[in-house]
Amino acid sequence: MCGIVGYIGSRQAQDVLISGLAKLEYRGYDSAGVAVADGGQIEVKKKAGKLANLSGELEHSPLPGTLGIGHTRWATHGLPNDTNAHPHATEDGRTVIIHNGIIENYLSLKAGLIERGHTFKSETDSEVLAHLIEEAYTGDLEAAVRTALSQVRGAYGIVVTHVDHREIVAARTVSPLVMGVGEGEMFLASDVPALLPYTRNMVFLHDGDMVVLHDDGYRVTDLTGNPQERPIDRIDWDAEAAEKGGFDTYMLKEIYEQPTALTNTLIGRLHDDTGEVNLDIGLDPQSFKRISIIACGTAYYAGLVGEYLIEQLARIPVEVDVASEYRYRNPLVSENTLAIVVSQSGETIDTLEALREAKKGGAKTLGVINAKGSSMTRELDDTLYIHAGPEIGVASTKAYTSMVGAFVMLALWLGRARGTLSDTQAKDLLHATRELPRLVEEALNPARVAEIKRVAEKYAQARDYLFLGRGVNAPTAFEGALKLKEISYIHAEGYAAGEMKHGPIALIDANLPVVVVATESHLLEKTISNVQEVRARSGKVIALLSDGDTENAQHADDVLYVPRAHEMVSPVVNAVALQLLSYFTASYLGKDVDKPRNLAKSVTVE
Ligand code: F6R
Repeated sequence: MCGIVGYIGSRQAQDVLISGLAKLEYRGYDSAGVAVADGGQIEVKKKAGKLANLSGELEHSPLPGTLGIGHTRWATHGLPNDTNAHPHATEDGRTVIIHNGIIENYLSLKAGLIERGHTFKSETDSEVLAHLIEEAYTGDLEAAVRTALSQVRGAYGIVVTHVDHREIVAARTVSPLVMGVGEGEMFLASDVPALLPYTRNMVFLHDGDMVVLHDDGYRVTDLTGNPQERPIDRIDWDAEAAEKGGFDTYMLKEIYEQPTALTNTLIGRLHDDTGEVNLDIGLDPQSFKRISIIACGTAYYAGLVGEYLIEQLARIPVEVDVASEYRYRNPLVSENTLAIVVSQSGETIDTLEALREAKKGGAKTLGVINAKGSSMTRELDDTLYIHAGPEIGVASTKAYTSMVGAFVMLALWLGRARGTLSDTQAKDLLHATRELPRLVEEALNPARVAEIKRVAEKYAQARDYLFLGRGVNAPTAFEGALKLKEISYIHAEGYAAGEMKHGPIALIDANLPVVVVATESHLLEKTISNVQEVRARSGKVIALLSDGDTENAQHADDVLYVPRAHEMVSPVVNAVALQLLSYFTASYLGKDVDKPRNLAKSVTVE
């Protein structure tokens, strides 16, 4: 989730870069850096910490020049220090790059480059790009970038410049890039707000696009060099709309960001050929006998999915606690315990205190966390970052699905290490996991979204809602209910479907919409029996069904179809449909979905 800016034209590049980076600092603030070309040389200045550290220094000793590239970093590989900051230059300083994303195969590429005499300065995955380009360069920068990228696996928005050329070459796969078209000047950024002060004519680059920018124009091709037509869009968003990426709310933007967020969660960690998962954590998977998962709210529900996955796939006993209970219940903790805390912000005080409680008892600790450098990460033994990017809407969406994605990987990793998963089972699941970004993209297709909106509006006047699910999707029902109540203020309860007859069934009448998560699973028949129980009492059934399930559609008043997914990863896909149901209900009722009443994004009081 780094921020990128590029400029070529007649202005002083440094000014454009710094103002653009300031608009992108939300994408990462571990370090910032710029490279500015002036005649026959490119000068790089970079600093750890917030942009202010760099801009303060540049005020005293500016870098003159009218071509430049700049970067604000959200660290993935390597500490957030000056050396690991971007831009990265080759030893001779002639090739300079900035990169947003993760190069999955950087270790093998780096080993090869070192063997061939290259010297690395940083611990980043990105630096390999500079060396690969240098190696491929024979006078044509565009061709060299193309050759370098053909060796790379992973996600990138990359921007390159070279002392011999007055041009900028950029390319993207997964990581976003938008180009600003000016009069005699061209701009590039990872997000629109960075460019709005300069131009409203923008070209959104597609996955697999490569572009060469000159002072007076640009040329877009694919990665193999075939020309691509990309329209110039006139952006008339105001600054606030731009920050929301053109969506009405941050929440909706973040719902749509989920395919990318999930890609970033998974990238570099799954190895299809061997069925192995590499989480880059120091934890010894044999060093504990039980697991305690601790979290609050939505993160707690992600933890419940984690419990199911870890017990199924790795056969380790897991208990899940609400953090505010855990910290006061004098929990049984020992050196044989692994405590996993789950948190988007990494700052929730109940979770932080529960972590301290677990540490006091001698537990090993692991965090499933989004916010880099947050308080929890400073106290944890190990952190599995979910890399979902900043979440601004108070109601958690992309952090939830990325947390669940992280738990799938964790369960796979533990299952492999402890021998409870065969090669075939692991490869199957790994394949299903890799499919998640695509399935979520499909879950967000316009026809499905329109149907969810229709159903949301049909039931928007309901006073209460019930959500039911079973097995790995019981938490999907709990999370669905939480999402609806927090943003629409409609009372909603989530129940394990089998529990309904032990009490909640008394609520059912013709006015009660009941959302039933009934996607493909080994428990589907049992869930459908619960649907019948609701129907028999005149309740209104909104069924979440897997694509193609026309048989069970007959039992429902309304059906929301979702893409078919492996049962173990289905909570990710199913959550998206329920997020949208809440979203459209709340917006139909005119609620402020980004800032629901009485709530805060990060709860740092008890
Ligand atoms: C609900 C929501 C909250 C948070 C909870 C924990 O949409 O966002 O329930 O999940 O406050 O926050 P983090 O994950 O930051 O610890």
